Amino acid sequence: MCGIIAAASNRNVGKLLVQGLHKMEYRGYDSAGIALHQNNQIAHLRTLGKVKLLEEKMISEKPKSKLGIAHTRWATHGEPSEENAHPHKSNERVYIVHNGIIENYLDLKEFLKKEGYSFSSQTDSELIAHMLEYFLAKGNSMLDSMYLTKEKLDGAYAIAAIDKEDDKNIIIARNKSPLLIGIGTDEFLAASDPLAIAQLTNEFIFLEDGDVAELSSEEFTIYDQSKNKVEREISQIDISNQATSKGEYKHFMEKEIYEQPDAILNTIDGRVGGDDVLDNIFGIGSSEIFEKVKRIQIVACGTSLHAGRVAANWFSAIAELPTQIDYASEYRYRNPHVDEDSLLVTISQSGETADTLAALRYAKEKDYLSTLTICNVPTSSLARESDYSIFTNAGPEIGVASTKAFTTQLAALMLLSLALAKSRGKNPKLRTRVITAMRSLSDTVNETLKLKDKILEIAPAIASKDNALFLGRGIFYPIAKEGALKLKEISYIHAEAYPAGELKHGPLALIDEEMPVIALAPESEIAEKLVSNLEEVKARGGTLYVFADPSITMDLKSGQVINMPKCDFLLTPIIYTIPLQILSYEVALLRGTDIDQPRNLAKSVTVE
Ligand code: M6R
Repeated sequence: MCGIIAAASNRNVGKLLVQGLHKMEYRGYDSAGIALHQNNQIAHLRTLGKVKLLEEKMISEKPKSKLGIAHTRWATHGEPSEENAHPHKSNERVYIVHNGIIENYLDLKEFLKKEGYSFSSQTDSELIAHMLEYFLAKGNSMLDSMYLTKEKLDGAYAIAAIDKEDDKNIIIARNKSPLLIGIGTDEFLAASDPLAIAQLTNEFIFLEDGDVAELSSEEFTIYDQSKNKVEREISQIDISNQATSKGEYKHFMEKEIYEQPDAILNTIDGRVGGDDVLDNIFGIGSSEIFEKVKRIQIVACGTSLHAGRVAANWFSAIAELPTQIDYASEYRYRNPHVDEDSLLVTISQSGETADTLAALRYAKEKDYLSTLTICNVPTSSLARESDYSIFTNAGPEIGVASTKAFTTQLAALMLLSLALAKSRGKNPKLRTRVITAMRSLSDTVNETLKLKDKILEIAPAIASKDNALFLGRGIFYPIAKEGALKLKEISYIHAEAYPAGELKHGPLALIDEEMPVIALAPESEIAEKLVSNLEEVKARGGTLYVFADPSITMDLKSGQVINMPKCDFLLTPIIYTIPLQILSYEVALLRGTDIDQPRNLAKSVTVE
């Protein structure tokens, strides 16, 4: 998953293309490049590393151009290097940028080699440039060459291409990778994400799979899979600049942690009324569909999967529904049996995660009653392809480590539990109790954020270790998993999570003074059992850091207990997530890692 951007304008586009790449660095940041039409030549600049380095090269070389394409990369085929950076070119004529994966690239490479093309990169993308050139050289137009090339390609792609012989037009194509057109003033743009061009326009056209479009500074034309001219809907989206700047914070992750009280308010806003959840908040007809649901299947990845694991407990307790959960990347490969009246629920911040999208597409061929997505990006593929949806309204999340997206997913999943329960006539009193607690949730999150000073006291002890263990029980086990994921993702400390009762079945062997143990101890019916599990750690010399309800008393030999604010038990997973996010952030800060763009990762994983 990479970010692509293209512009055809009446003004110089170099700077705006690079600014767009900066906004898309969340999609990949191991190398970057640009190709600009300049006096019948192409200025072709590529750098290994972040977009800042490409920017520096641009400042020193000062290319001037009104037409260009650019790319920021997350390596799939071929290591991060200048040779593997996009744009790729063919015969000094065709230049392309690509996001996605070409699955049959080895066969196509073989074919092109036999036709006399030589390859200078290890990527799957370079062949697209050669294939376009191959068809162009046979006398086809660039548009026709793109269609002929598409016929050969298996896989996912968003492509933008320019031809040295044509300084007016850019050709773009989409299949299973996001791509949109931006309507600017005296210019047309294309990008993987509206964020990249949000400063230039608020009018976007989201291309559909199979679409090809031709852009110049004066006009654009979209063609569908069968090369018929088509009109696609124009969406007006206002993405404020403020939402994509760090403001007073050092990192986006830090800003996003502290935005959670407002983000949660935005998720709940307009969706509850009186003492219940409102009808049809997941789309017209959703309340009726929910009456019929007998089983839920969740598919998601990473943090979003952890949100699903918490929600499975809620679906059971509030809506009295059984739930099956799968990693989206595994779901299709286990020949899932679909029970009658099952609802498929996908959860995704970006709405573009390839594994989750593939799982949804697979499920749509099966006998599900309906499909529903919990998503933060209304214009995303998941949102467009699901029958029902709810948007978390968290605002753009830029830090690779998911924070506000997770807690708002939980808030939205709680709304789903309540809506299912309401449609099925289940647990009215419990629903009222939860709605009341949800109304003060944002305040409790605010109070929890004030624990920062206490967390700063324990962060150095964890930052100095190479491993950490997270423990939780029941609905807190997924939160322990989320804490471990956050810590490993941004601080590179190896961290694992276990249900505390499982310790004695193996992991207890790891306990010594080098293994900090971070435990979640809310007030619950199994609090005593959890404390006994923690005693087992203490007895073996382990250092415990416990986030605990004030009612739980523990006498620690080493470590610390941090008391948590009170909250309705069903919502406590949201509250207990907050200190784990702050802890990971502060530990990563001490270790000096690249917090917003941790090594080897990208925000939006659009490859399977
Ligand atoms: O956009 P999605 O929610 O579908 O992304 C899924 C995962 O890639 C994501 O949650 C990942 O695990 C985060 N970087 C974790 O912080």
